[in-house]
Amino acid sequence: MSPIPPPAHSSGARPPALPAGSVPNHVAVVMDGNGRWANARGLPRTEGHRVGEETLMDVIAGAIEVGVKEISAYAFSTENWKRSPAEVRFIMGFSRQVLRNQRDDLNDWGVRVRWIGRKPKLWKSVLSELRAAEELTRNNDVLTLNLAINYGGRAEIADAMRAMAEDVQRGVISPKGISERTVGRYLYAPSMSDVDLFIRTGGEQRTSNFLMWESAYAELYFSDKAWPDFDRRELWKACEAYATRERRFGGAVDHVAGE
Ligand code: IPE
Ligand code: IPE
Ligand code: MG
Repeated sequence: MSPIPPPAHSSGARPPALPAGSVPNHVAVVMDGNGRWANARGLPRTEGHRVGEETLMDVIAGAIEVGVKEISAYAFSTENWKRSPAEVRFIMGFSRQVLRNQRDDLNDWGVRVRWIGRKPKLWKSVLSELRAAEELTRNNDVLTLNLAINYGGRAEIADAMRAMAEDVQRGVISPKGISERTVGRYLYAPSMSDVDLFIRTGGEQRTSNFLMWESAYAELYFSDKAWPDFDRRELWKACEAYATRERRFGGAVDHVAGE
């Protein structure tokens, strides 16, 4: 079945026409600011998470419209277990519900869902919803959505190192042959591309352990808007900012003034 384009934004806004080659291929999003957004409105933190579901779907729709091919969304970090049991319980139950509610639309739009994270502690029921969404959407290729749930960048690297060490012990690989590419093969999603644009909403200017390895050369973009106030138009603004950045990857070219 061929994919159905997602609905346009309610304002009728259309994506910007960006110069060829300047659309980020992979966008990482730290969906932050939900709790403060809700508290500022006299609501419990969990209400912010609830409203964030719509933002996520809108941002995915806008990403498809502008031509982004991969989105990684940070939904729950390995550090978020420090929160109150009630909030943790809410986020786990809510993630399960979002997956169930949205997987058909995501599938219709041609989105491939993939989970990245650590198994221990993650609710089994969340993992089985993730597996169901992965299975349903595995052949889609309009956009890949990496859902980071119980994810930590250091955890990912530590898990990769453990698996690599085991393979060394079993003689599958030799220490001498370990390169950056080898490390990449042991990460949660070996085929994930490097992050081009790393967005964090909610006003904080830090990466909070998200995709440390994959974002080594990402362009960073911080938005003061809380996640529930963010939408695809804000994503497009970030893409426009990205298009003006000069990515050098350590290289250099002469641009002598006046020449
Ligand atoms: C991000 O929003 C969502 C999760 C971490 C699950 P927060 O819940 O961190 O909201 P703030 O940053 O406290 O406002
Ligand atoms: C990062 O936000 C994690 C997610 C958005 C899932 P946090 O709110 O947990 O990060 P800190 O505590 O401000 O660094
Ligand atoms: Mg936060």
